[in-house]
Amino acid sequence: MTQLATRDFIDGLPKAELHLHLEGTLEPELKLALAQKNGVDIGQSTIEEVQASYNFNSLASFLAVYYPAMNVLQTEDDFYQLALTYLKKAHQENVRYAELFFDPQAHMTRGVAFEAVVNGFYRACVDARAFNVDAHLVMCFLRDLSAESARQLLEIAKPYQAKILGIGLDSDEHHNPPLKFLREYGDAVAQGYRITMHADIDQVDSIQHIQQALEIIRVERLDHGTNIVENPDLVDWVEQLKIGLTSCPLSNRLVADDMKDREVLELIDHNVKVSINSDDPAYFGGYINDNYEAITTKNDLTIDQVVQFAKNSFETAWISDFQKQTYLAEIDAYVADYLQK
Ligand code: ADE
Ligand code: ZN
Repeated sequence: MTQLATRDFIDGLPKAELHLHLEGTLEPELKLALAQKNGVDIGQSTIEEVQASYNFNSLASFLAVYYPAMNVLQTEDDFYQLALTYLKKAHQENVRYAELFFDPQAHMTRGVAFEAVVNGFYRACVDARAFNVDAHLVMCFLRDLSAESARQLLEIAKPYQAKILGIGLDSDEHHNPPLKFLREYGDAVAQGYRITMHADIDQVDSIQHIQQALEIIRVERLDHGTNIVENPDLVDWVEQLKIGLTSCPLSNRLVADDMKDREVLELIDHNVKVSINSDDPAYFGGYINDNYEAITTKNDLTIDQVVQFAKNSFETAWISDFQKQTYLAEIDAYVADYLQK
């Protein structure tokens, strides 16, 4: 279908969200409300002041704003409210299925119990079933903390494992290669977790890190990861093994001044399963449909091209074959219906 995709088409399209940090959905309004409720001084008291603090141009400068803001999250209910607010938004955008990152260490290191974080987030996922969004949690190790700290986190999470689908790796990639967490990833797989990790764009040693992630740790997905275009062997590898890449155009544009849309389209041409996702929507200027729209309008993408992203999102989700086929059929029905109008 060579018809160009519109925002209206994108809005109604069933899709999966595979790269979203729950803490990255903390909008200025909720941030200020929680700061006031919990008596936390964040140094800003109006929406404008909060927005003015969002002046980052790199992963490191983003993270320097992102982590301190989490101080406002204190109780299980705060985590619940954050996640449920996001999930309602996801529902409006026709996200049918979501795998959501969260960073327990960013909360535990400031005295919040693991239990409050996971139980609050999980309760929101359960409640979202009432409006037909199937959401799951992916627990990230912070890669700038020690492997020992990640190991302790895995141990603490053991009684809650039924509430957590997979393990991810995020935060500052510089000098924090995948192999730092080789043992912890091995343990995670042995315990039955699915595994992914960030390969942020244009990092020092990007290619070396991606090789470690794919060839040694053998992750099932790569978050971002579009630097593989620099290495044809890696492109072949991810294509053959059907490894999903979760790209986030608006976050790329802010931290690297480039949506990396050319790379995404080149990878799609090589049959790599790239999906479009939101990363930290409260900070990067848009949720999943804004990300779809950004890459679509910049490149005049057709309905077929946009549908490919949505199909890739379900095909690389950690769901059964039956669920994949059901979601793919839902997309086909939506497209047929849309074209008849
Ligand atoms: N934490 C939240 N968003 C992130 C990103 N895009 N990369 C690394 N760590 C993150
Ligand atoms: Zn991310």
